[in-house]
Amino acid sequence: MPIKMIVGLQYGDEGKGRATHYEAKNASIVIRATGGSNAGHTVVANGKKYDMHLLPSAIIRPEVLSMIGPGVVADVKVLAEEIQKMRDAGVKVEKDNFVVSERTHVTLPHHKELDRLYEMLKENKVGTTGRGVGPTYEEKTRRTNIRMYDLFLEPNILKEKIAENLKVYNILVEAINKLIEEGIYQEEKFPIITAEEEYEYCMKYKGVIKEFIVDIYPILNKAIEKNELIIIEGAQSFWLDNDHGDYPMTTSSHPNASGTASGAGIGPTLIKEVIGVIKAYTSRVGNGPFITEQDNDIGNSIREWGHEYGTTTGRPRRIGWLDLVMVKHTKNTSGLTSLCVNHLDTIGKLDKILVCIGYKYKNQDINYVPIDKENCKPIYKELKGGWNTQNATTFEELPKEAKDYIQFIEEYTGVPVKYIGVGADEKRTIIREEV
Ligand code: IMP
Repeated sequence: MPIKMIVGLQYGDEGKGRATHYEAKNASIVIRATGGSNAGHTVVANGKKYDMHLLPSAIIRPEVLSMIGPGVVADVKVLAEEIQKMRDAGVKVEKDNFVVSERTHVTLPHHKELDRLYEMLKENKVGTTGRGVGPTYEEKTRRTNIRMYDLFLEPNILKEKIAENLKVYNILVEAINKLIEEGIYQEEKFPIITAEEEYEYCMKYKGVIKEFIVDIYPILNKAIEKNELIIIEGAQSFWLDNDHGDYPMTTSSHPNASGTASGAGIGPTLIKEVIGVIKAYTSRVGNGPFITEQDNDIGNSIREWGHEYGTTTGRPRRIGWLDLVMVKHTKNTSGLTSLCVNHLDTIGKLDKILVCIGYKYKNQDINYVPIDKENCKPIYKELKGGWNTQNATTFEELPKEAKDYIQFIEEYTGVPVKYIGVGADEKRTIIREEV
């Protein structure tokens, strides 16, 4: 059985949960590898809608082991509450179907304050989700942050570690609060946070999560040796990647395929399939360049038809045409083997659809993505829309124009489309097994 990975190729929210949940039906393990509670995965299954931020979307399949990998940063409060919420909804979350790596870093209250603080200081705001994810990765890189493993240390040792980690935060806050008092920044003051307070925060939620914290490598090794199917579930997306995306308007992790493999702790040669997920258009939350953006009636209509409001923050998503230059860029940078195209039903409501196939850049026509994307103007190809996918359950049953749209994506990118989302419910997925 191969190891498969599912990654986003645009700006997040492409519907990775759908492909993951589908692939998970034959899997023994689904492992979430990057990001934190900035992610919002919506899975619609059995007529119910589940919103998740940290739990792998396979959690709704009790026979699969859902895993949070070492590359993730997890707020213990969000995790504990999410476990509780899913249990209340009748979803099984027990030791035998969910584990968290002891190496997973912990997001704490001061990380959220830092998120707000950094955004306040910035002229060009990133528009983060405010979940403290960037500051957690920052302190992980600074090598002071605590991990799940640390929750089991002697209280005094854990408090010392937390105090060490808090030093920079509290020094910064004292200085910034003075500037706020002087009226230089019009913002609510930032709290001084004690090690005792963050220790109590950890202990409050440890009760719910402690039974799930394990060394994941023996479990992964056993599954690999037994040739079982493992799915690595990406979070965020390629163009939010801190190395390869629209830096500095990125997230703080590496949601490209290699970063996702690293976050799971699975080497690249073991991964046989990389499924890249896109929407039939583009959406983005947060700031940053968006070459095909439609800040107009077209964008507004797509937003309403596609319910394009952030799962994590509720923010209306920015909407634009499908940018195939950006998608093609990920073919080699993420080593794609197939695509999943979601919202084919949504885009088909328009009679005329534009697809970006190149850019006007410094008086030239180009078909690659330069570092200064903001200097690009889109070159479009017009395709015929106006389809209804309601009765289609196979690719052949799709209306001709819808098939043409998919085939155009395949021809342009050179990557076959294996999954096509034609409705919000996961059952409305067309799967081309031959791909
Ligand atoms: P952060 O990850 O909260 O630091 O936010 C950095 C950027 O990534 C912002 O533009 C966010 O809107 C965006 N972002 C982070 N997570 C997601 C996600 O799961 N979906 C879409 N955008 C995201």
